Amino acid sequence: MAGGGFVSDNGGRNYEGGVTGFVIITCVVAAMGGLLFGYDLGISGGVTSMEEFLTKFFPEVERQMHKSIHETAYCKFDNQLLQLFTSSLYLAALAASFFAAMITRSKGRKVSMFIGGLAFLAGALINAFAVNVAMLIIGRLLLGVGVGFANQSTPVYLSEMAPAKIRGALNMGFQMAITIGILVANLINYGTSKMAQHGWRVSLGLAAVPAIVMVIGSFFLPDTPNSMLERGKYEEAREMLQKVRGTTNVDEEFQDLCDAVEAAKKVEHPWKNIMQRRYRPQAVFCFLIPFFQQITGINVIMFYAPVLFKTLGFKDDASLMSAVITGIVNMLSTLVSIGVADRFGRRVLFLEGGIQMITCQFLVGSFIGWKFGFQGAGTLTPVTADFILAFICIYVAGFAWSWGPLGWLVPSEICPLEIRPAGQAMNVSVNMFFTFVIGQFFLTLLCHMKFFLFYFFGIMVIIMTIFIYVFLPETKGVPIEEMGKVWRQHWYWSRFVPDDAVIGAGHGDDNIKNA
Ligand code: BGC
Repeated sequence: MAGGGFVSDNGGRNYEGGVTGFVIITCVVAAMGGLLFGYDLGISGGVTSMEEFLTKFFPEVERQMHKSIHETAYCKFDNQLLQLFTSSLYLAALAASFFAAMITRSKGRKVSMFIGGLAFLAGALINAFAVNVAMLIIGRLLLGVGVGFANQSTPVYLSEMAPAKIRGALNMGFQMAITIGILVANLINYGTSKMAQHGWRVSLGLAAVPAIVMVIGSFFLPDTPNSMLERGKYEEAREMLQKVRGTTNVDEEFQDLCDAVEAAKKVEHPWKNIMQRRYRPQAVFCFLIPFFQQITGINVIMFYAPVLFKTLGFKDDASLMSAVITGIVNMLSTLVSIGVADRFGRRVLFLEGGIQMITCQFLVGSFIGWKFGFQGAGTLTPVTADFILAFICIYVAGFAWSWGPLGWLVPSEICPLEIRPAGQAMNVSVNMFFTFVIGQFFLTLLCHMKFFLFYFFGIMVIIMTIFIYVFLPETKGVPIEEMGKVWRQHWYWSRFVPDDAVIGAGHGDDNIKNA
C-alpha cells in the first residue's frame, strides 16, 4: 500500500523501449495516489491540534487542554473519539483493499484508480463541510476507501507501465510521493492555522485537489497490457505495449507477459500456497515486516506530532512548525534511501536506521521523563524542547532511510510470482491494521504509560533490529528468479526451502496481481 511494493527488477532482462509520454503521465497520476495517501497521513494531526476544531467537535478535549499544565500533561488528548477521527481511515482502507483487489483484477487498474479518486473527492468534501462528528468520521471512512483503492491499484499500474530498468526507482518514488504528501499537509496546516476561522475546513478540503487530478487522470489513462491480457484481450494488449514502449519491437517482452499471466492463472490458491512450508520465510517476512514497520512508532510522529508537541507545552505555532520540520526531514531522508539502497544493500540500512531510532527513542523518553516525571507536571525549557525536536528529527531520518521504503520494497522482492498476490495482500493488510492500532491507541497509551511509551517503542526496535540481523538475508541485486538460492544458503531458512525449489517461476514480476 504505502509504497505499494511489488516492483522489482525483471531478473536482468533488457527489453527495448524507454521513457515515453505514456510513462510520464503514468508517473504523474501514480504520484497523485501517493500524495493523497501522504496528505491523509499528515493532515489529521495538525487539524486535531487546532482549537476551533476541538471546540466544535471535541469540547471535552478542549477543556482538558486548558487545565493547568501542572495536571496530567500526558492525558490532555486522551479521547477515543478524537483518535477515531485519525484511525478510522485505516480500518476502511483495510476493508476496501480487498474489494479493490478484486476490481483491479476483473475490471482493470484504471477503474480502481477512478473509484479511489472519487472516494477521496467525496471524503474531502464531506470533511470540509462537516457540521458534526459523524460527518467527520464518514468523511474519513471514505478517504480510507480511497486509500484502499488508490494504493492497491496505482503501484500495480506503475510497475506494469514503467520500463523494467526504472521500476526499482519508481517503487521508491511512490514512497517519496507519500512523504511529499505528508509534508504538504504539514505546511498547509501551518498556513491554515493562521486563518481567523475555518482553517481546518481548508486543510481537510484541499485533499480534493489531487483527488480531482486522479479522477480526471484515470479517465484518460490507458489500461495496462498486463491487465488486458488478464482479461483475454491479446491483440489489444500487444498494441498497447507497443504504444507504451514507443517501439514495435516488443515480441520478447510480450511473450514474457503472456507466460507470466498464464503462470499466474494456474495459481488457484495463493493463500494456501504461501502457507506451505517452502514459503515459510516469505510468509514470516510478509507478516512481520509491516508489523515491525508500524511498531517503530513512526506514525506517532506522523499523526500526532503537533498534538505531542502541544502536550510538551509548545505553543500552537511552534507545534505546527515542528511538524513541518519533521516532514522535511522525512522527505529528504527518503531521498537518501533511494540513492543508496541498491549500493549498500537493505541490511545495512535496516541496521543503521534501527540503531539510530533506538538511541533517539531512549533519549526522547528520558528527556520527557526528566522534565515531566510520572505525574506529567512540568514544563520544558526552550533548550530541552530543541533537544527533543532534534532527536525526533534524527529518529524520523533513521526511519525514512530504512523501515519506511524498505518496509514496502523487501516484501515485494522476496515473493515469487506464485505467492505474490497473497504476500502483497498480507503485507498491505497487516500494515493497515497496525497503522489503525497506533492511530487509535497512542494518545491513550501515552496517558497510561507516560514517558515509558517511548522506551517501549525503543525496545520494539531493538527486537526488530536483532531479528533483521539474524534472519534477513541480503536481497540487493538478486534477480527474482534466483531468490530461492538466498534462502537455501541461509543458516536458518535453508531447512524450510527444498533443494529443488524453483522459486520465481515465470519471468520476473510483470504479472502482478493482488489477491
Ligand atoms: C509507512 C507509513 C508512514 C510513512 C511515513 C510509510 O512507509 O507505511 O505508515 O506514515 O512511511 O513516511
